Amino acid sequence: MTQDNTDVASVLKAAQDHLWLHFTRYGSADATDTPMIVRGEGAYIYDIHGKRYLDGLAGLFVVQAGHGRAELAEAAAEQARKLAFFPLWSYAHPKAAELAARLAGQTPGDLNRVFFTSGGGEAVETAWKLAKQYFKAVGKPSKHKVISREIAYHGTPHGALSITGIPAFKQPFEPLVPGSVRVPNTNHYRADEISGVPGMTPEQYGRWAADRVARAIEMEGPDTVAAVFVEPVQNAGGCFPPPPGYFQRLREICDRYDVLLVSDEVICAFGRLGTMFGGEKFDYVPDMITCAKGLTSGYSPMGAMIAGERLFEPFKNGDETFSHGYTFGGHPVSAAVAMANLDLFEREDLLGHVTKNEPVFRATLERLLDLPIVGDVRGAGYFYGIELVKDKTTKETFTAEESERLLRGFMSKALFDAGLYCRADDRGDPVIQLAPPLICGPAEFDEIESILRSVLTQAWDRL
Ligand SMILES: Cc1ncc(COP(=O)(O)O)c(C=O)c1O
Repeated sequence: MTQDNTDVASVLKAAQDHLWLHFTRYGSADATDTPMIVRGEGAYIYDIHGKRYLDGLAGLFVVQAGHGRAELAEAAAEQARKLAFFPLWSYAHPKAAELAARLAGQTPGDLNRVFFTSGGGEAVETAWKLAKQYFKAVGKPSKHKVISREIAYHGTPHGALSITGIPAFKQPFEPLVPGSVRVPNTNHYRADEISGVPGMTPEQYGRWAADRVARAIEMEGPDTVAAVFVEPVQNAGGCFPPPPGYFQRLREICDRYDVLLVSDEVICAFGRLGTMFGGEKFDYVPDMITCAKGLTSGYSPMGAMIAGERLFEPFKNGDETFSHGYTFGGHPVSAAVAMANLDLFEREDLLGHVTKNEPVFRATLERLLDLPIVGDVRGAGYFYGIELVKDKTTKETFTAEESERLLRGFMSKALFDAGLYCRADDRGDPVIQLAPPLICGPAEFDEIESILRSVLTQAWDRL
């Protein structure tokens, strides 16, 4: 029994027998040893045996305010008592309205219209559907395709999965939604291989990568392309920040071809980069933002697609309806939690805290560059990827078999056993990903570095 009388054996058995974990390979040897997390406090989580771990991934890029914040739980309870549920289908409720106005006040440009969803994939799905209908409504019905970047993850609904650039995630579900095209991402560490042009500066590579979008639009035909989906800092592949000038060039290209720029900020919004939205960090104004995760710090699920005035225009008058919605989109409890979460952000100046500590986080992780296995440390704000390589000089990466042995066979479990919850990811080249709660500071960064140092050293010795 745990302190709160949970029967450890029976709950572990229930998970084994009945719970279907997401993105989980059941055939692996440790499938019967599922970590069971029972509570969280600040930057730490505790498993069913009472063992403590530093939450180096904020759950899943979610728990910005940290765990165990009573005021967020109370905001949920108060709203549930008052009005637990009502849909946003032709009706409204105050918290959704207040939250929409608050978000509109913080987005760049005139992104003033907020369409709530239950999560990030639905927000991405919503953005593509709006892009298609918008162009039909303004007399450009053939504009329906989307462009996105290689290895980028945009969610699992069919549309969002079609936009996703990870072939292995898509293959089991083919045929997907047609009309989705890939372009290179902003992985400057591998710029030589990707572009075939050796030695480009970040600026030159940014320009080259943005121009691939223009080329894709030309190849597909500008009158068929509706939108480009990009994250401010691409997560999958291991935190690719935009090179200087990338977003400005992308904005120019989208304007030139009348293609909508969708900033998928499911991870990057709400302080992850030290700003509310990515546009503020990298100085651009998209046509739509998709967001979720940190909006409520995970105390209740919620996502949103936020659109510029121009995109709402066709729906303002006449009989044009955006025939799209989700029962739980804008859920009153989630909206109340989001409001309380944003209050907390302001009161504790979480954005200022991240901005102030970002250089310390980076410098702490960069200490790991003295290890032979650490090829690159990259990211922004509280969002970093550490790329692992076999040879630092040549940047040679691991074979599929080595990567499997290293990441799945050893690293994920070793890091967790050592008290750090984070992600060892091989959707692109092998990386360790870190995105701690925004309340973290130098003490937690040191703890992350020390655990990583020890486990990465062991990993190298095992190779
Ligand atoms: C950039 C991006 N878009 C979309 C999604 C999908 O969000 P959700 O899992 O809430 O559907 C994710 C999830 O991690 C994401 O990182």
